[in-house]
Amino acid sequence: MTTTVDFVDPLELVDAERYGRRGYPHEVWTRLRAEAPVARIEPPGWERFWAITKHADVQYVAKEPLKFSSAGGITLRRAGAALPPPTEILVLQDPPKHGPMRRVANPNFTPRGVRARRDDIDEIAAEILDAALADSDELDFVDAVAAPFPLAVIASVLGAPRSDVDDLFRWTNEIIGKDDPEFRRDGETPGQTIKRARGELHAYLVGLIDQRRSAPQDDLVTLLLGADLDGVPLRPDTLLAYAELLVEAGNETTRNAISGGLLALAEHPAEWEKLRANPDLVPDAVEEMLRWVSPISHFTRLATEEVEVAGVTIPKGEQVALYFASANRDEDVFDDPFTFRVDRNPNPHLTFGFGEHFCMGAHLARVEIEVMYRRLLERIDSFEVSGPIERLSSITNGSLKRLPIRCRRRA
Ligand code: HEM
Repeated sequence: MTTTVDFVDPLELVDAERYGRRGYPHEVWTRLRAEAPVARIEPPGWERFWAITKHADVQYVAKEPLKFSSAGGITLRRAGAALPPPTEILVLQDPPKHGPMRRVANPNFTPRGVRARRDDIDEIAAEILDAALADSDELDFVDAVAAPFPLAVIASVLGAPRSDVDDLFRWTNEIIGKDDPEFRRDGETPGQTIKRARGELHAYLVGLIDQRRSAPQDDLVTLLLGADLDGVPLRPDTLLAYAELLVEAGNETTRNAISGGLLALAEHPAEWEKLRANPDLVPDAVEEMLRWVSPISHFTRLATEEVEVAGVTIPKGEQVALYFASANRDEDVFDDPFTFRVDRNPNPHLTFGFGEHFCMGAHLARVEIEVMYRRLLERIDSFEVSGPIERLSSITNGSLKRLPIRCRRRA
């Protein structure tokens, strides 16, 4: 089997600006799946890594957290960049530390935990849509709907006031969009942008944690303050890392599933009509939007020993990239993977990852997207994209910065 590929320009996989211009490199992944499903990629300026593009192989690696560690970081490394120092961030923990730490917050995110919040989420969705559609039939769907909604939901889960959502919006844009010049201040490098924005978000969360320490409420920050690991309360840095991860992980991803889903419906008007005629299809449509958009293109792992994947030997200490977005177009798993069908079922996509680190917010995200689309279908008959869309320059987040639409409201 081919491992070193000369048919792929490695920059197609690591140049953020290309992702910003053209979206995901699906044609490259399709060829890799067919000809080199475990491929060695050596992009100039980056550490060499192994691209895993098939559904079964992504699952295999994600299920072996001791052989494929998250502690060495989950994004591709620039050449010469040091491994990140040990941290308290859940998504960067390996077993045996990871499980107990996950169980601290997990009850809030089970289907039952999320069901208890559904009415609140529904109210937030209706409020945001009504405000967005109040003055005009033309709007930027990202700015008016898809971005503020998940932020307002995560603010409510954590216990942050709604009035702080604008600040959270700015910081998280700067952290995740650091490679995009739009989100950098004049004279800042991406590294400086992320450092500054992280510092500001930290200071904000420390303030919120202090407030809850003195005045507990029924929210997740209060729960984390009362939680313990083996009888020992969470350390302040663990607590902060937890709150920060929830703000970052639950925000941009859900935004992009909602906005990317609407773009897919705009590009497939018959599917929108199908959904309008039968809103019971919304849960299946949500899964298809998740598969189609795959808001996280990939995360990485570090091989802790020499290990084989699909017959290819990965040397100890090298990075592997799990291309969830490619697995979601795997011809061996999905019929017509490049067809968007709101009634696709089953739909075993890997949008939320797999195994040890399977997304803790998956149920919350599903409810958010479902509720948003139910409310949207109640309010509009049809819509079209009314101006140029813009994508974020990022190799990890498949993100729309702007999605201008014109809609006709329901009578
Ligand atoms: C459509 C929306 C979302 C997508 C596509 C998404 C995607 C992912 C993916 C791919 C992972 C796996 C990380 C890995 O394997 O290294 C993950 C983990 C995680 N996600 Fe999400 N996510 C979404 C929404 C959310 C929400 C709403 C929250 C919470 C508020 C959340 C919280 C987390 C957390 C805490 C983890 C780490 C879990 C662990 O390490 O055990 N996510 N997410």
